[in-house]
Amino acid sequence: MRLDKYLADMGIGTRSELKKAIRAKAVTVNEETVRDPAFQVSENDIVCFQGRPIKYESLVCYMLHKPAGIISASADSREKTVVDLITDSTRKDLFPVGRLDRDTEGLLLITNDGALAHRLLSPKHHVDKTYLAVVSGAVTEEDVTAFRDGIRLADGTLCRPAALELFTPDEIADPAVNTFFDRLRPSLTVSAVRVTIHEGKFHQIKRMFLARGKEVLYLKRISMGPLALDPDLPAGSFRRLTDSELKMLRQYSV
Ligand code: URA
Repeated sequence: MRLDKYLADMGIGTRSELKKAIRAKAVTVNEETVRDPAFQVSENDIVCFQGRPIKYESLVCYMLHKPAGIISASADSREKTVVDLITDSTRKDLFPVGRLDRDTEGLLLITNDGALAHRLLSPKHHVDKTYLAVVSGAVTEEDVTAFRDGIRLADGTLCRPAALELFTPDEIADPAVNTFFDRLRPSLTVSAVRVTIHEGKFHQIKRMFLARGKEVLYLKRISMGPLALDPDLPAGSFRRLTDSELKMLRQYSV
């Protein structure tokens, strides 16, 4: 690949900044200064930027705590996207692993690893996804049973069995859910729940509750397969997955 792309992919700068830096002799390849941004390098070459070795990683994966109000897309001409929140990378090949609605918060993986994304999203693999939600009305044992038996959506689609658990206010351990719940409770009957689904239909959680005559007022994804949202990651922030998280995810989803 081109030398300027190699460095841009590793988050060193934009392509135009890097072209200038390369021409200004900031870059060596295998200990030789290279002044041509189009110079071809491979992952086996030793590339240094201002004397610092820059190792190429072809596959990357980030855990993002998606905030509400941001769309799950790679790029958009008008709006900020979840990929724009990954500010330590200038890579052009990142995309979100599936979608969360604009108003949904929580765990979203951002990667350039198409094979990993495919395995996590493929309907064949039934990867568990767990959400915390605040829902209008009183969620009942009949709702729990209906979720367990498989909800039929308004359009006739039958969902796979899902686990629905009801929380008392004392049991809610998540500060964001707690705040939301406490704000609504004086004026409305609301329930706090945890739901685990094994598929990923469009607006699935919202539509499952609608089929039970209830509205989802707040939704946050807290896990996907074996990976839980890092409690030290505030909404809007991200981090790279650790090697052991990546290994766990690859093994789980194979
Ligand atoms: N289900 C929904 O309804 N919305 C999401 O964002 C995720 C799951």
